[in-house]
Amino acid sequence: ITAGPTREPIDPVRYISNHSSGKQGYAIAEAAVKLGAQVTLVSGPVALPIPPCVGMTPVTTAREMLAAVESALPADIAIFTAAVADWRVAKVADEKLKKTSDGTPPSLSFAENPDILKAVATLKKGRPKLVVGFAAETEMVIDHAKVKLAKKGCDLIVANDVSPDSGVFGGDANTVHLVSATGVENWPKLSKSEVATRLMNTLAGMV
Ligand code: PMT
Repeated sequence: ITAGPTREPIDPVRYISNHSSGKQGYAIAEAAVKLGAQVTLVSGPVALPIPPCVGMTPVTTAREMLAAVESALPADIAIFTAAVADWRVAKVADEKLKKTSDGTPPSLSFAENPDILKAVATLKKGRPKLVVGFAAETEMVIDHAKVKLAKKGCDLIVANDVSPDSGVFGGDANTVHLVSATGVENWPKLSKSEVATRLMNTLAGMV
């Protein structure tokens, strides 16, 4: 299970990251433990207590997260809740980037981060029986989730609308849609903990 944002190491003065509190991912880890699973939680920096009985690997970059996820295999189920940064700054500056006197903003070059979900979902050897991704969307939620399901090669996408009005980032509730090759299941608005329990019960019935 991966949770939370991943970003460049926190040592640089300035960094670029994605939004996420880790609440949904940590709730899933907790629900999996309650069902008797042995859980490894690979997490970016978040302000949440580690759920009891969960093996936790902290990471700060997408590349570290990929390595930690690979080390956590084999697994029966892999769930990818983290809001991984799709890009990183190509070269981390050695010194703090100073403001210029004429106010010109710095120009940054980006490099693509590994797609961790896709890497695991397309493993030729040792692929988990169930690979579950999330899709954070702001419009055409189901359509975009269907595209992600095919592109990433996973078995299920849990799609959620993260538009500012939804309050999903950092909030305690979520409205999700389970998108698979066989169809779409729309769940009502639930607490993140209820989403986690219902999701883990569903997945346990599928392996
Ligand atoms: O943390 P909270 O505040 O509780 O909010 C929960 C949440 C909104 C972050 C969560 O429910 C959620 O939607 N997580 C997925 C966020 C995301 O990055 O979605 P995406 O559509 O950009 O990515 C699709 C999938 O690919 C995700 O499973 C993601 O983990 C994975 N991914 C993305 C990029 C990348 N480089 N590697 C990946 O593995």
